[in-house]
Amino acid sequence: PLMGDLFGLTELAERLQHLLGIPHVIVVQGNADHSPWVKEELGRVGARMLKQYIREGDIVAVTGGTSIASVAHHLSPAPSFRGVQFVPARGGLGERVELQANTLASAMAAKTGSSYRLLHVPDRLHPEALQTLMKEPQVQDVLSLLQHSRIVIHGIGDALAMAKRRNYSEAELAELQEAGAVSEAFGYYFNAAGETVHRMPTIGLQLEDVQRAETVLSIAGGESKAKAILSFARQSCQNVLITDEGAALAILSER
Ligand code: BG6
Repeated sequence: PLMGDLFGLTELAERLQHLLGIPHVIVVQGNADHSPWVKEELGRVGARMLKQYIREGDIVAVTGGTSIASVAHHLSPAPSFRGVQFVPARGGLGERVELQANTLASAMAAKTGSSYRLLHVPDRLHPEALQTLMKEPQVQDVLSLLQHSRIVIHGIGDALAMAKRRNYSEAELAELQEAGAVSEAFGYYFNAAGETVHRMPTIGLQLEDVQRAETVLSIAGGESKAKAILSFARQSCQNVLITDEGAALAILSER
């Protein structure tokens, strides 16, 4: 609370830009861990940023999660959404249907009057099943679209919170913890240094695709995500981070 009094939101954003090396950071008021309206605000700003960055004919890779669901909720039509395709970054990933990337890609398309693709790949596949699915022309089609995404819009999760949400067993959770997993994004788990320590056995957007994308928009708020946001920033691939005061203050007091 003290720091919040001392620094305004713009100053917090500038400090984060500097610390995380992200060119454009926006900090909204509040803490998403405690107040549901903060996630609404993250989504509202996320939608505005997407509208600002989108160009006609773009391919946009979309992850699942509550933060991106909020972005979808706040999108509305604009001329620049013409010819845009929303493509799910991964398959199911064990999320509730309302929060799956497939659902959010279709919701974004519906809200903006553009189109979408679906990736029908279950969560945590056996290697053989994965190989077979990869040969499906429909799947190959979506994978090649993902490789050409110009925009990626994604959430960032706390590694253990996400693994629990994906029903990892106690033993698997312990393994992740042992490996030092701190953050999770599009099925990759990273340690504090930003190294990949675990990957979901599924197919979809690859880290290289994210690095190749011209614009990467991250939406993540709440004090509980501070370490995760710091960890993911090590990828040095983000152009825009939309976060909240709760996360911002916790990140700045981390060091
Ligand atoms: C998941 C994404 O759906 O949402 C993850 O696949 C991300 O990569 C997570 O970490 C974040 O979820 P939320 O609900 O905290 O926005």
